[in-house]
Amino acid sequence: MAKNNVLQTFKTEISKIASLDDLLLLETKYFGRNGVLNAQLKNMKDLNAEKRKALGKEMNQLKYKILESISKKRQEIVSFGQKNTIDVTLPGKKYASGSLHLVTYAIEEISNIFEKIGFIRMSYPEIEWEWFSFEALNMPKDHPARDDFETFYIQSPTNQKYGKMILTPHTSSGQPREMMRLGKPPIRMINIAKTYRPNWDASHVPMFHQFEGLCIDKRINITHLKGTIDFFAKEYFGQDRATRLRPFHFQFTEPSFEVDITCDICAGTGKVADGTKCRLCKQGWLELGGTGMVHPTVMKAGGLDPNEFTGWAFGFGVERVMMMKPGVGLNNMRALYDGDIRVLEQF
Ligand code: DAH
Repeated sequence: MAKNNVLQTFKTEISKIASLDDLLLLETKYFGRNGVLNAQLKNMKDLNAEKRKALGKEMNQLKYKILESISKKRQEIVSFGQKNTIDVTLPGKKYASGSLHLVTYAIEEISNIFEKIGFIRMSYPEIEWEWFSFEALNMPKDHPARDDFETFYIQSPTNQKYGKMILTPHTSSGQPREMMRLGKPPIRMINIAKTYRPNWDASHVPMFHQFEGLCIDKRINITHLKGTIDFFAKEYFGQDRATRLRPFHFQFTEPSFEVDITCDICAGTGKVADGTKCRLCKQGWLELGGTGMVHPTVMKAGGLDPNEFTGWAFGFGVERVMMMKPGVGLNNMRALYDGDIRVLEQF
């Protein structure tokens, strides 16, 4: 082969090579004992000193060019391989995955439980008129909950009928709103929403969530209320839990109760294994929230005839029930809203 052609041919050949094995074969083809380059030197001994020197120099340059492009090709093949092969023996890369907030999970779970027994999920304004939160719920002007220590007031003009604007302090305002929305029973509402009160300690935060159940129809009575609350408690906390209604007072229900659930530590006995008092509940029961039969005045405010319909309502705190769930192990409500990633990523 003429010397000029050696480089040309080599360039064409190497351009077609894609594997290290083929590259090695090509290298041997050029540099092996009987290779292309040695063949070029075969007649060297017949040349005079000057020509020999010139040929030697030329061959060295050729060798250098070929070696250089072989090593460049080798690097290309290796780095292409690194980019395009999967080494199944390497430990996998773990991507950080986000998750929903603990309270969002609790809201989903609560909605699903009530959906199973035909309750419709609703949410009503977070900025609400006093009337829906208080008057319509039979809470007179001088009721302590209306104090500005208990409720956030918005600087707004006062409406003649509806009063001032407030940040809704409880989901009970959803009761008259739902009665008005539907116009007539049957009503089975579960209103889950943000609620606001100016408190800040281990079991209170100024923005929290409540879920409000409302059931109104002809001949609805306390047994339906007890059955529904029991169903919720067993679904959410576990089939071994029981509930009780304890007489209490609320303006918007008559009769009114607080709902208690058996403590999961002492199983409702108030005593732990060694016979001592349960430190969590002291007497076997934990408080869930408030409930009762809808007051006739509230029915009327919602546009319904209390002689024709009866109903019940309850209001529980989402954060509260979630923190009472066995295994959650959270004893400070503020930790939910501090936004500390070390807390949130545990759930
Ligand atoms: N709204 C009450 C609160 O925030 C809870 C409540 C009590 C709701 C009794 C009700 C009820 O529907 O019947 O403390």
